[in-house]
Amino acid sequence: MTRVALVTGGMGGLGEAVCIKLAALNYQVVTTYSPGNTKAAEWLADMEKQGFNFRAYPCDVADYDSAQQCVALIEKEIGPVDVLVNNAGITRDMTFKRMDKLNWDAVMSTNLDSVFNMTKPVCDGMVDRGWGRIINISSVNGQKGAFGQTNYSAAKAGMHGFTKALALEVARKGVTVNTISPGYIGTKMVMAIDAEVLNSKIIPQIPMARLGKPEEVAGLVAYLSSDEAAFLTGANIAINGGQHMS
Ligand code: CAA
Ligand code: NAP
Repeated sequence: MTRVALVTGGMGGLGEAVCIKLAALNYQVVTTYSPGNTKAAEWLADMEKQGFNFRAYPCDVADYDSAQQCVALIEKEIGPVDVLVNNAGITRDMTFKRMDKLNWDAVMSTNLDSVFNMTKPVCDGMVDRGWGRIINISSVNGQKGAFGQTNYSAAKAGMHGFTKALALEVARKGVTVNTISPGYIGTKMVMAIDAEVLNSKIIPQIPMARLGKPEEVAGLVAYLSSDEAAFLTGANIAINGGQHMS
């Protein structure tokens, strides 16, 4: 039996590593990309050259209707979603003094509303079939807060509240819901930070003195997606090189 794994934002740094890892474990991997992404076909072709048969659908995860339509199409064309990885996310960093409603709303809708928007159309099916995995990619900065990230830290902390509440509701139905909170991983999201701030303020806070690798997070997603992880639910698993221990 091939399970279907839906990874939002699979064309980004972390999402791509998750897609590759799950494909290597024989999941049928489906990803979403944002409607403005003009490189989707190129990415799919490149992945195909590497031997990966991914399917990709446009979806604005911040938009409820877009998410419902996207999942309906995936379930019609590919089949029911067994594993959902809520990975798509953005940053709009600025101090609170400069934070405006536009950048607050953009981060809340893309990083937090998206979890509702994408989980809503898949969760009942998982419950009915008696098996499912929902994995929410949060952040160390949702656990500890971060300078310049009132919007992002709030959204990422909110994701774990959602995880815990839904985990309770579906625990007896074979569906697990977990949060992963990565520390700083070497993707374009982190590379966008001013080099001076990254080197003088952030790396020194990481006991391992390096950024994490997307593959390291992907390995954890793979575990949470597996049958072996059936007893693990409602958890927030930190993977941050020792930067924050709770
Ligand atoms: N910790 C402590 N102090 C910080 C800081 C930090 N992380 N970031 C900036 N500062 C300090 C600066 O050193 C500076 O101090 P001085 O005034 O004493 O020189 C002061 O704050 C103002 O900084 P800027 O001059 O850079 O001010 P700005 O308004 O131009 O920019 C900022 C502010 C947008 C917050 C910018 O500093 C920044 O991008 N900081 C990094 C934010 C960050 O860590 N984002 C994480 C993105 S990756 C991610 O989010 C993935 C994940 O989940 C881990
Ligand atoms: P990334 O390379 O910038 O990828 C982000 C992905 O999100 C992109 O694939 C993008 O899709 C997608 N996306 C953004 N807005 C979207 C929208 N409205 N609708 C659909 N898709 C949208 O960043 P990343 O580092 O891989 O981050 C992935 C996740 O990990 C994020 O949730 C991030 O907050 C979290 N995280 C990252 C780090 C880190 O250090 N990198 C640490 C902790 C947590 P398109 O490419 O199609 O535009």
